[in-house]
Amino acid sequence: MNLLCPLCGEILQKAERSLVCPNRHSFDIARQGYVNLLPVQNKRSLNPGDTKEQVQSRREFLDGGFYAPICEALCKMAEGLSGPVLDVGCGEGYYSSRLAESMGAELWGLDISKEAVRFAAGRYKEAQWLCASAARLPVEDGSVGLLTSLFAVTLPEEFLRVLRPDGAFVQVLAAPDHLLGLKNIIYPSLTEKPKDSAPELPGFTLERSEFVRFSFTVEGKQVQNLLSMTPHVYRISKEGAEALAATETLTDTASCVLNLYRPKK
Ligand SMILES: C[S@@+](CC[C@H](N)C(=O)[O-])C[C@H]1O[C@@H](n2cnc3c(N)ncnc32)[C@H](O)[C@@H]1O
Ligand SMILES: [Zn+2]
Repeated sequence: MNLLCPLCGEILQKAERSLVCPNRHSFDIARQGYVNLLPVQNKRSLNPGDTKEQVQSRREFLDGGFYAPICEALCKMAEGLSGPVLDVGCGEGYYSSRLAESMGAELWGLDISKEAVRFAAGRYKEAQWLCASAARLPVEDGSVGLLTSLFAVTLPEEFLRVLRPDGAFVQVLAAPDHLLGLKNIIYPSLTEKPKDSAPELPGFTLERSEFVRFSFTVEGKQVQNLLSMTPHVYRISKEGAEALAATETLTDTASCVLNLYRPKK
């Protein structure tokens, strides 16, 4: 899979500790092993994406093994699919590293958060980690075998551009009853908008959907870690935060859907 220069779109080649395009735009390979391909002018904020605290919380929570059933379902859905794998919004790499290992495939993990790819690169040395935006993937057309987006953005047009015609897109979405226990503690009255669990994506055909639903129990620090991993961390009120801080043990339900899409023939 070739990477493209985010400034001019030409192919990047590896040179010592950097990636360079024919127009001499150069991007350093960081000491930790990831490459930052997010040009300053494409950034909407100084540090876009998840913060270091969020990434740390996600790492601690996922290391606890609480979401292992999601990872197992993902690996099962990918049986028979081929790489290279591009995981968009890869976070700290928990799912994509296991997925690529189970497939025996080359892995490229991409996230707009520098902290996320720094964590991923620090632990999973066998993969390539990129700081870049899903909106402009620095990836050659038609070169990805399996593109994944887990609890992250879906941008059908851009995903279609980088996928091989025989490739696949696997999306994991939270279902409406995902983490109802947490939501009941932090929101005084819960109003759930109905959500489409298998959205129609222009240019794609939905081949298969799988639901994963299981309960788990977290204690102490893992209760806060769970909150930090979710979008609720941006919405929580002072009262909600206090109610959660007083929660020592939380038994909750994880509920999500895995959708396997193919580019339309
Ligand atoms: C809820 S987290 C999921 C992380 C990982 N897939 C997982 O399930 O553990 C969403 C991730 O998407 C990243 N993200 C947000 N906007 C993005 C964008 N435009 N391009 C790439 N990554 C993005 C965030 O930095 C964050 O790491
Ligand atoms: Zn260039």
